Amino acid sequence: SEFDVKRCYDVVIKLVDEAGNIIASRNDQQKTISEKSCDVDLLTETDQEVETLLISNLSKEFPTHRFIGEEETSEGKKVELTDLPTWIIDPVDGTMNFVHTFPHSCISVALLVNKDPQIGIIYNPILNQKFTAIKGEGAFLNGRRIKVSGQTDLGKALITTEFGTTRDTEKLDVTMDNLRKTIESAHGIRALGSAALNMAMVALGAADCNYEFGIHAWDIAAGDLIVREAGGVTSDPTGQPLDFMARRVLAASSPELANKVANLLTQYYPPRD
Ligand code: IPD
Repeated sequence: SEFDVKRCYDVVIKLVDEAGNIIASRNDQQKTISEKSCDVDLLTETDQEVETLLISNLSKEFPTHRFIGEEETSEGKKVELTDLPTWIIDPVDGTMNFVHTFPHSCISVALLVNKDPQIGIIYNPILNQKFTAIKGEGAFLNGRRIKVSGQTDLGKALITTEFGTTRDTEKLDVTMDNLRKTIESAHGIRALGSAALNMAMVALGAADCNYEFGIHAWDIAAGDLIVREAGGVTSDPTGQPLDFMARRVLAASSPELANKVANLLTQYYPPRD
C-alpha cells in the first residue's frame, strides 16, 4: 500500500541516465576485463562501477528494498528472490560487445514486487535506445509506444538467440541443434550479443521471438515486462510459466508462435540460480 511505483521510476530513470553516460563515454576505450564462469564470460570495471552507482543510490532512497545484481552475485553472493520489492540489475548486458565496441550493450533494470515486475528499463546509451515499461501502462522506446509484431507463422518469424557464454560440450550440442532447427524452419536468425536487447527487439516488433538457455534473472527481468507490455508473451522455453531462477527464457510476439518454437526446441536445463 505504501508502494509508489511512479516515485521508484522517477528515481531509477535518473540513475540509469547517469549510468548510461558512463557506459557511452567508455565504449571506445580500453577495458580492464575479468572473467566470471569462464574466459568468454566477462566483467569490466564499468560493470562494477555502474552496479555500485545504482545500488548505493537506490538503497539510500529505498532502504527496505532488496537487490539482485550481476556483479554482486559474481562475488559469490547467493541469488535470493523474495516477495519484498527487489531491484534486479545487469549494469552492462552485452559485456562482450562492450569490450569489442560492438554497439549493442545496455543497462537492464527491473523492479519486482511479490516476484512480479512493476518497472522494466533496457537502455543502450551507445545507440540511444531507451526501452521502458511500467506494469499496466504499455511499453515505450524513447517515449514512443511500441508493440510486438503479432506474427504467428514460424516460417515468417525472425528469431533471436545467443550462442552462450560457455564452451561446455553438452550445452554447445544443444545450442547447435537448436540453431540448425531454427534456421531450417524460421525466416531468419539473429544474435545481438545481449539477452536484454534481443528481448527488446521482440517488444519493438523488429524480431518475432527470442529464446535462450543459460541466462540469469538480471538478463531477462526487464525484458519480460517490456515484451508483455508491448503485447507479447513470455514463458519458459517449454511453454510453462517463466521462472526467473531457472535460467531459461522464451519471448514471442504471439502465443501461437511461442507454442511453435517451444515444440521445435531441444530443451536444456542449466543448474538453477
Ligand atoms: C550475457 C549476454 C549474452 C547472453 C548471456 C548473458 P552479460 O550477459 O546477454 O548475450 O548470451 O546469457 O549472460 O554477461 O553481458 O551481462
